[in-house]
This record gives sequence, C-alpha cells and structure tokens, in this order.
Amino acid sequence: MTTSLTSSHVHHFSGTLHVPGDKSISHRALMLGTLAVGETIITGLLESADVFRTVTAMRALGAHVKRVAPTCWRLYGRGIGGLAEPVDVLDMGNAGTGVRLLMGLLATHPVTCVLTGDASLRTRPMKRVIEPLHRIGALFLARANGSLPLAMSGTPSPIPIVHMLEVASAQVKSAVLLAGLNIPGTTTIIEKQLTRDHTERMLQGFGATLVVTENPARERTITLTGQPEISGRVIVVPADPSSAAFLTVAAILVPGATVTLVGVCTNPLRSGLYDTLLEMGAQVEKRNARVSSESSDEPVADLVVRHGPLMGIHVPATRVPSMIDEYPVLAIAAACANGTTKLHGLMELRVKESDRLTAVARGLSACGSRVDVQGDTLIIHGDGRPPLGGARVNADFDHRIAMAFLVLGMVTQEPVTVEGAESAIATSFPNFVPLMNGAGACISGES
Ligand code: S3P
Repeated sequence: MTTSLTSSHVHHFSGTLHVPGDKSISHRALMLGTLAVGETIITGLLESADVFRTVTAMRALGAHVKRVAPTCWRLYGRGIGGLAEPVDVLDMGNAGTGVRLLMGLLATHPVTCVLTGDASLRTRPMKRVIEPLHRIGALFLARANGSLPLAMSGTPSPIPIVHMLEVASAQVKSAVLLAGLNIPGTTTIIEKQLTRDHTERMLQGFGATLVVTENPARERTITLTGQPEISGRVIVVPADPSSAAFLTVAAILVPGATVTLVGVCTNPLRSGLYDTLLEMGAQVEKRNARVSSESSDEPVADLVVRHGPLMGIHVPATRVPSMIDEYPVLAIAAACANGTTKLHGLMELRVKESDRLTAVARGLSACGSRVDVQGDTLIIHGDGRPPLGGARVNADFDHRIAMAFLVLGMVTQEPVTVEGAESAIATSFPNFVPLMNGAGACISGES
C-alpha cells in the first residue's frame, strides 16, 4: 500500500462531482438505526474506515447490518434498551465521533465493554464525555487523564440530568442525547455556542420527542423525553460539506476552475467555511436548495464554485463550531489570499486527530508561507500568490491535514508530498484521489 502522496501543479480543475456521504450523519444513522425497532435503510452511507468501525461496533451490539448495494445498507435494530454485550474489545480506530457517541449509547445499557482506538484516538480527551455519562450512572475504569483504552459499564438505573456543555462539542451533546434515549424522564442539554444538530434532527425524524428552544442570547436548550419507541426508517445521507471543502478550495485556487458539487449538506451549523470564503471574496453559489424529509431532515444544495482571488480577513472565535473541521483547508486558502488572515479561538484544533494548529503552521512554513501562532490564534500572511511548496508534510494520522496539503500542492510551483496520507484519507474520503484526479488534479503515490 502506498502511504505517501504527492500533489503537483495543475492547469485545470473542473467537473460535476459527487462527494461521498456525510461522516457525522453516517455514524448517527447507524447508531439510531441500531436503537430503532425494525428495518432502517440507509443510502449514501459514507463507506470509509471510520464508519466501518461503527458498523462493526453496531454488529457487536447485536444489530444486523448488511450492505445491499454500493453505499446502501440495511439494518435491523435492537430497540432502545435492547443492546447485547459485546464479546470483545471495541476498537474504534481513528474515529472520535464513533467512540464518543458509542459511549453515550452504552452508558444506559447494562453492558460492560472495553473501548480502544488507534495511536491518535488514544491521545484524545474523553473526560468531557465520561463526566456527564458518569453523572447519569455509568461506571468507567480509565486512566487519570481519561484517555483510551478504557472499560465502562452502562447503568441499569440511569438518572436524568441537565447538562451544560462546557466545550462547544456536538460529540458530547450527542453522547448525552443517545444516553438519554434510555433514561426515564427528560434529559436536558444547554449549549451556549451552537454546534451541529444532526442528532437532534435525526432523532425527530425517527419519531423521538425532542424540544429545542433558543433564548435571545442564542443559547439553546434541548429536552429529550426518554424511552420513546423509535421505528426503522429510510435515511438518505447528503454529501459531506467537510469533504466538499477540499474541492471547493481547490476550485477557488486553480486558475480557470469551475466545479459543481452535487447534493451537499448545507446545514447552517456546518456552513462556517462557506460563509468565510464568501467574506474573503470567493464565488460560491448555492443552486437547487432543497430539504428532503428522507435526507436525514437536512438542507441540501448543489454548490457551484469558481476560481477567483481571495482577500485576507479576521475570523472571530464564534465561527469555530460551524467550521471546526475546515480550518486546515481554510488556512491553505488564506496562504494564497492577498493580505493577512487571522483565525481566532483555535484551542479545540489542538485535540483533533492531530494538533492541527501546529500541523498547519509547520506545514505552511515548510512550504514557504509566513505564519505565526499567537496563543490560540493562527496568523497567515499572504501576498495573493501561492507559496513555493516543495515540502514533505506528515499527515500524523490526520485525514484533514493530508487532504489540505494535497490541495495546496495543486497550486504551488514545487510539488507537496504528504507522508502517511493514504491511510489517513481512508478514514473519511476513500475516493479522494481518483475524484480529484478525475477533475484535473495530479496526485500520485509512492510505494
Ligand atoms: C463531530 C463533531 C466535531 C467534529 C467532528 C465530528 C460530530 O467534533 O470536529 O469531526 O460528528 O459530532 P467536536 O464535537 O469534538 O467539536
């Protein structure tokens, strides 16, 4: 298997392109399908390493999960309260969403499990999930810092809680909501900064009673009534805006490029990158905006992206939750923009699949950009031209770092090589290279 990928300068990039299914929605569809009674059909499921870990975990909990056609999966759920105890350790690989949501699911089922992951996942913070789930009554045997591997036992007599989200994290919110499904009474979550609401939308689509209110300060209170009967359904997973982000930035940067990205999820709590690129002067147009009751109750549109110049801007910390996974590729855009871009409030980037703040700053500097990190602010000085390139960047188990620097290599004078790219990219966007190359990119592997 090739592990390094090299991206070289291209002269065109265009096409009508289908990005694979959304990773966040794919994990949730499998988990809620497992808790539903009867058959759930998922089409457009992201078939990537992270999602396959969730498929394996759901099978270990007793769900029947079968691939019936490319991206189309049929699942027979166990019903809320009906999960089986897994016979072996659940290894969630690189999947932070997978493991944190799984902990929520397990917390209110009387099963004991050992959870682990790859070298990256084993360094990521889990206390943020352990703490509320422990208050519900789940027991954890974990290291002092809470990192994986850990053992947990779900509680047979869970307690409903009110949880104020300390970190703006949809994973923590979703873990508590999934736990709340098997708690008698109501589980309440308060979020001061809004995070992606795919779990709330899908829960409502499955027929759970969930009430969301927002006060004038835009704080949200989410109240879930426990132990509903949820029945299987059809879910169509829209294209992943976080994967579409790489093609979007490539199209903006390559002279003469135009791409149409079909059926991308335009959930406003995921659209921070698109808002930011528009502020930087990019040409991104939404066409055929639609909401399908079958598409996970998410808004969807086709995105038409054209090449054009970008200006450096200041991006406030309030933008972080809606753009959390897109900072690496935004930084690539900023390195090619005219003027200084300041990205504020990036502390959560340090605890993603890698320390993305350091990885982006180091990689861009190696490519010849002028970059400063001041606390949690990333400052990128651009002069309207791409940096020279010619660097080797380490993916460090991080798909988004790998893909971001391969996009940069499309416009630098010298090629950019990303070590460990192939296996990292397989976690979220397995057909990234053929899709990009089909549209004009020149990305090749080293054996
Ligand atoms: C996700 C939430 C975000 C995001 C991750 C997917 C989700 O993480 O970075 O890739 O599916 O809920 P946090 O909740 O930790 O911010």
